[in-house]
Amino acid sequence: EKGGFGTFMEKEIHDQPKAVEDTLLGRTDASGRLVLDELRIDPEELKNISKIIVLACGTSAYAGMVAKYAIEHWVRVPVEVELSHEFRYRDPIIDDSTLIVSLSQSGETMDTLMAVRYAKEQGARTLAICNTNGSTIPRESDAVLYTHAGPEIAVASTKAFLAQITASYLLGLYMAQLRGKLFQGEIDDILADLHKIPGKIQEVLDGGEQIRELAREMAQAPSVLFLGRHVGYPVAMEGALKLKEIAYIHAEGFAAGELKHGPIALIDQGQPVFVVVPSPHGRDSLHAKVVSNIQEVRARGAKTITVAEAGDADVVDYSEQVFYVPETQPLLMPLLTTVPLQIFACALAAEKGYDVDQPRNLAKSVTVE
Ligand code: F6R
Repeated sequence: EKGGFGTFMEKEIHDQPKAVEDTLLGRTDASGRLVLDELRIDPEELKNISKIIVLACGTSAYAGMVAKYAIEHWVRVPVEVELSHEFRYRDPIIDDSTLIVSLSQSGETMDTLMAVRYAKEQGARTLAICNTNGSTIPRESDAVLYTHAGPEIAVASTKAFLAQITASYLLGLYMAQLRGKLFQGEIDDILADLHKIPGKIQEVLDGGEQIRELAREMAQAPSVLFLGRHVGYPVAMEGALKLKEIAYIHAEGFAAGELKHGPIALIDQGQPVFVVVPSPHGRDSLHAKVVSNIQEVRARGAKTITVAEAGDADVVDYSEQVFYVPETQPLLMPLLTTVPLQIFACALAAEKGYDVDQPRNLAKSVTVE
């Protein structure tokens, strides 16, 4: 059942090419237009949405942050991301032109369920992105878009996370298509690049030994920091969460631009810092800014480990180690850059002899508030 792997988490990390592929499967018609019939929501309603609020917890909330970057860019509708358990208590501004998008692997997370119920009462439309057929959150929502990652057994979420990001992209592209915000050719190009992602994840998995080796060397690290920017920011947060959850190492993720506003004080000799580097092919100066963040922490003694796009030569001089991922569109990069961080946490926890699949104090599905 573990498919030859020692743990479910390892197996599920290796299931990711298929999780993404299956989530993309059957979402287009013969002419390549996106059809999300299973949504059960009137396309006219989606056209008139004036604001999206994404609700989720934990890893799913990081998928929500990626969704925000993509959907705002493609659809030009404001997207807020909020932790489900914070949402109800701030008197949020919602009406019938608000679309609530919940992200939940289990579909049973009580915090998210209560937030969705609250939003419904306030008149919002609710759409669930969920990995579990027939679970409570999709049953109580107006619309549903299932991720097809297959059952996730390990407590720490991996393949469901990539599937949630994939489904969020599909939702964004579908709304952009409905609202005429992207040309069909642009949507086709993005979809074509999405379909190439599973093969690229496989390449990252095939190079996993380099990461596992580093994890074994770093088993005694007392603390690890993760930096990222733009879509690399939620990836950094996710890398830190994985390490806390299963390896019980103090880890923090930061937006790289926030460094100089405080966290850089943490850096001293030998402090490991992972940096998720944006594509050097972006139109803006993001890449250069992150490279200068790497230089800044390194100058203060950090051990810098970078996850960068293949061919990015600028990071080499400032990185103790570089993990390259294949090139793709900047917005799609989280589907690749997350994978080395998952492999790292999994290998490190295994090296320490911990129960990777059942970390202490955690349950797979949190059905209490
Ligand atoms: C992290 C993890 C949790 C869940 C969170 C939400 O690895 O698994 O942070 O992501 O409890 O769970 P779902 O997605 O089932 O609502």
